[in-house]
Amino acid sequence: MLVDSYDRVVDYLRVSVTERCNFRCQYCMPEKPFSWVPKENLLSFEELFEFMKIAIDEGVNKIRITGGEPLLREGLDKFIEMIYKYEPSVDLAMTTNAFLLKGSAQKLKDAGLKRINVSIDTLKPEIAKQIAQKDVLKNVLEGVDEALKVGLKVKVNMVPMKTVNANEITEVLEYCKERNMSIRFIEYMENSFASKDIKGLKSKELLEILSAKYEFSDDGFDGSSPSHYYTMKDGYRFGIIEPYEDDFCKKCNRIRLTAEGNLIPCLYFDEALSISKAIKAGDIKAAAQVLKEVIRTKPEKNRWGGDDAEISSRAFYETGG
Ligand code: 5AD
Ligand code: SF4
Repeated sequence: MLVDSYDRVVDYLRVSVTERCNFRCQYCMPEKPFSWVPKENLLSFEELFEFMKIAIDEGVNKIRITGGEPLLREGLDKFIEMIYKYEPSVDLAMTTNAFLLKGSAQKLKDAGLKRINVSIDTLKPEIAKQIAQKDVLKNVLEGVDEALKVGLKVKVNMVPMKTVNANEITEVLEYCKERNMSIRFIEYMENSFASKDIKGLKSKELLEILSAKYEFSDDGFDGSSPSHYYTMKDGYRFGIIEPYEDDFCKKCNRIRLTAEGNLIPCLYFDEALSISKAIKAGDIKAAAQVLKEVIRTKPEKNRWGGDDAEISSRAFYETGG
């Protein structure tokens, strides 16, 4: 079992398989990055899998594949299948923008993928085009439908932003509710790569909008999920992710691996240790040692909120959010 210095059990690994993306979301990478990690620096799926085995053997039971956009990397279904075959009980999930999902959902499900998270920030094609800087909505919604059709569980993320999509909060919630998908509203996390003019809605403002239309109860936090949950009268549950709140990090159970093998203890901070050398040398012991060191140095909390609030210089497209 992996336990950090604050007694948190770390059993969740997020693996970014590429930082590249076919969208340019305003809150993530509005500008194309100056340079991508050269392809030769990426760990191959076989190398990433070597580390997945180590992590699973040490107690990781949930793996989420992220990006950038993970579906841009060829052979992803084979990678999923390797993990699934090694340990079928691992909760295997993926975060995707869904643009390429229509053609791949069945293959991913057959490989062992159980769940996906998708962003639906708007239901208006023009606003989707403004956010992602590409005409994406039709493909995204078709991708989501296909995922539901093949039996993948779908969770939706929405980042509410003033003057962009704040007026669609209830519409997007209804859209998800009709399709039996849960929704989580994510407070915009400031980072130095995002567009400077974004103003995110804080949970208090969101709750004001939602309570004008719905009655709901406050369920608080559930297990190690970072969401604050609310249940509506008809039983539908929605979540709000509030990284600016003090409690946000208390139950954090996750670490992140980038496509080039940097193991990151906290989404907010730049610190990371590389497993690349150890994995490329086939040195399982050394890689396990790096994993333990990252767990040992996992910080207590981020610095988005509180008195020493700062914006993060960590690129979300590198860590997969
Ligand atoms: N703030 C909040 N959420 C973000 N995401 C990406 N960048 C940010 C940010 N700056 C979310 C997207 C997507 C997931 C990968 O991360 O909504 O669903
Ligand atoms: Fe791509 Fe996701 Fe970042 Fe949007 S938020 S640019 S879809 S990685």
